[in-house]
Amino acid sequence: MTITLTADDRTIQAREGSSVLSACLLAGIYIPHLCWLEADAPADAPAACRLCFVEIDGFREPVAACAVTVENGMTIRTGTEAVRSLQKTALKLLLSVHRVDCKHCPANKACQLQNIAKFLGTGLACKPFERVLKEPEVDSRHPVWDYYPNRCVLCGICVRVCPQHHPHSLLSFARRGFETVVGYFDVDPVAAADCVSCRACLESCPTGALVQRTAGKG
Ligand code: FES
Repeated sequence: MTITLTADDRTIQAREGSSVLSACLLAGIYIPHLCWLEADAPADAPAACRLCFVEIDGFREPVAACAVTVENGMTIRTGTEAVRSLQKTALKLLLSVHRVDCKHCPANKACQLQNIAKFLGTGLACKPFERVLKEPEVDSRHPVWDYYPNRCVLCGICVRVCPQHHPHSLLSFARRGFETVVGYFDVDPVAAADCVSCRACLESCPTGALVQRTAGKG
């Protein structure tokens, strides 16, 4: 069933049960986002990146658009001062643990962080937050790809995409807090061969944190 709502003074249609983020994107209204997958129902959205803030009439504070279900007659504002301020803070937090070395990154010019920084007009500097990076710079234990923790925004998309292509997910979050990284379970040669033909995690990564080794170490 289709419902009607208002976003940025435009009347738009949305599928019942879909998220505010999905409805706005489908209507051509861009909201920055990193951790959302198109198949996500609002209740399943991890709401991890905290970039997709919007204001909605009836809500006391801005909310993550990926985690809110559309309702008939809803009024949404995607570009208010409060929304932009929260989005810029979320981006700065992500950049505070991100190695900004775009020239040497395989995702250069296709990186979602670059696109969002451009959209928000912030650039890729992370002031006023101090930049803190992880060691080591690269994890090369996987047989066919490398993982760069300081490019990873921990959106979790690779972790969630993997089991859509394999009987068991080969990826998971590992460690805690600042030390959190994407780890993989021990990969036997058969599973590794499967990884080469699959590439779903590599292709879903928004920042070039997962890189096929044959394509170079970035
Ligand atoms: Fe909504 Fe990441 S897309 S919090």
